Formats: sequence, structure tokens, C-alpha cells
Amino acid sequence: AKDPVRVLVTGAAGQIGYALVPMIARGVMLGPDQPVILHMLDIAPAAESLNGVKMELVDAAFPLLKGVVATTDVVEACTGVNIAVMVGGFPRKEGMERKDVMSKNVSIYKSQASALEKHAAANCKVLVVANPANTNALILKEFAPSIPERNISCLTRLDHNRALGQISERLNVQVSDVKNVIIWGNHSSTQYPDVNHATVNTPAGEKPVRELVSDDAWLNGEFISTVQQRGAAIIKARKLSSALSAASAACDHIRDWVLGTPQGTFVSMGVYFDGSYNVPFGLIYSFPVTCANGEWKIVQGLSIDEFSRKKLDLTAEELSEEKNLAYSCLS
Ligand code: NAI
Repeated sequence: AKDPVRVLVTGAAGQIGYALVPMIARGVMLGPDQPVILHMLDIAPAAESLNGVKMELVDAAFPLLKGVVATTDVVEACTGVNIAVMVGGFPRKEGMERKDVMSKNVSIYKSQASALEKHAAANCKVLVVANPANTNALILKEFAPSIPERNISCLTRLDHNRALGQISERLNVQVSDVKNVIIWGNHSSTQYPDVNHATVNTPAGEKPVRELVSDDAWLNGEFISTVQQRGAAIIKARKLSSALSAASAACDHIRDWVLGTPQGTFVSMGVYFDGSYNVPFGLIYSFPVTCANGEWKIVQGLSIDEFSRKKLDLTAEELSEEKNLAYSCLS
């Protein structure tokens, strides 16, 4: 039998946490033959609720779940973890300035970075989900210099999956037959969902999405804005933000990273990488990647037309600006 993998979920008493921990305990993230030990962290006001989640995990009698650590102590939470899914953060509340929210999250991610650096297992892989996801991940990278930078990522897989979903609805095909959409840049409304390299598996073979959806106005307009604004549409409908789809995307992200992407398929991950596609240095930016042997690699050589170039640059500008704001909170 395999040794259990320790998976940390921060903010585990929250909405996404509640959807995510049973998925992990069922093997959705790491596979049906991989035992796991869950580490759940939240803050003191949520301690009782966190303990309730722990009780439910016991009650669910998951065969793969070999232990649960539920704590408000960041050191205990981080000790020995092989995978860290960072969902905990400070949400923007009505009337709050952007800078104030940034400042709260910068201080959370700075201190959790140090705890992970000191106490996580060697080669721990980190996924930041909490917003602003790219910038929280960048702060985590800055304050955990001994964690290899290629082990630190942020979640744009939800946006990626939303783009697959929109194409499948539009063409009335199975979502599993659509692949290779790309989310470029920030997990925010400036992200660029790009279908220029996406294909659909049809009875007549693999066809470009651009050929099957002849309506360029839709692809260059409504499709992009629907994906960019999907988070807001879910909040409007549910009065709560996306949770099951975010949890599922977090599992997809880690699963593909650890176990590899299928041949011929790429996915989107926010990663730290210098220079690909002329994206400025020093950002956590979402790129198309393939994964094998536990490592991601940016897909190279995709053609970028003028329309796309502008969108890649616009989201990079926003990320640079977010980075400056985050740094101004540090001083
Ligand atoms: P939530 O508010 O239900 O849960 C957040 C949890 O984090 C709460 O239980 C809170 O007590 C905890 N928390 C706060 N500070 C903490 C700290 N310092 N350490 C540990 N835990 C802490 O929020 P929800 O809906 O679960 O969303 C979580 C985050 O994920 C939010 O920042 C949200 O914006 C983001 N998100 C990101 C997505 C993405 O695609 N990247 C998609 C959906 C949400």
C-alpha cells in the first residue's frame, strides 16, 4: 500500500473548504489508490465550525482518509504537508478599499509562507486559491525562498473549465470532447480566455473551435466576457460565490500537476516564469501548460495574433499594478 500524502487545506471551514475536503478524501485529487491525511487550518472564530467539518469527515468513513488534523495553529497545520491548497483569506467587504484588502492578504500570505517554508515536507507543491490568487501566490513565493518557485502556483483552472463549458454548450457537444482552451494572465476580469488553439473531438476527427463556431463576434465578444464575468454571475444567482466548481477545479489542477496531463492536452495554471510569450518578468501569470513527472512545462510556440497580444498585455499590466500595490503594503 502507498504511504499517505498529507494535504493541507487552509480556510477549511469556509465554503470551498466544505466542498473540497470530501473530494480529497474520496481520491478525486490524487487518485483512487492514494491514501491521504487531511490537514485543515482556519482561524479562531471558525474553530468550532472547523471541528464540525472534522466530525463529518469521521462520519463519512472514507476508506482513503488515514487521518485528520484540524487546527488554528499554522505551524501544526503546515508540518509535513506534501500539498498545500491555500483557500483561506480575507474577503473584500462592502466599503473596503482595495488596498486594505490587499494589505490583510499580504500579511496572511507572508506569515503562511514562512510556516510552509519551515515546516512543510521537502518539495511541497502549493496551490493558491484565495483572491487575489496570483498576487497572494507571488507574496507566498517571495517569503518562502527555499521552496522552489516552480512549486508555487495559483488557480485559473476554474476559468479554464468555465471556458470549456461555454464552448460545449454553444456547440452542443460533450465537455470532455473540448480541449486546449487557454486562460492567460490574472484570475480576474482581465483574464484572457483564448480559443485560438482549442479543438473539439467530432465524428469527423479533431476540429478547431474557430472552424466549428463560425461566429467570430461571439468568440471575440460574448464568450470572453461570459467567462470573465462568470464568478459574478454565480454570486448573483447563488448569493454566494462559486464553491463546488472551485473545489473541483482545485482537484483538477493538483491531479494533473502530480499525475500528468493526457497526451495532446494542455491546461491552464498560474505560475512563476520568466519571459515566455513576452510576459514581463516577476509575475505569477496563467499560461497553457502540460505536466509530466510532477512538473509543469509551458506550451511553447503557439501563435499569438494582434487581438490576443493586446489582451495578454492588458492582464499583465493589471498584475504588475497588483504587485506594486502588494509591495506597497509590505513597507
Ligand atoms: P469563505 O469566506 O467561505 O471561506 C474562507 C475561509 O478562510 C473562512 O473559513 C475563514 O475563516 C478562513 N480564513 C480567513 N483567514 C484565514 C487565515 N489567515 N488562515 C486560515 N484560514 C483563514 O470563502 P470561500 O467561498 O471558501 O472562498 C475562499 C477564497 O477563494 C476567497 O478568497 C475567494 O475569493 C477565492 N476564490 C477563488 C477562486 C479561483 O478560481 N481562484 C474561485 C472561487 C473563490
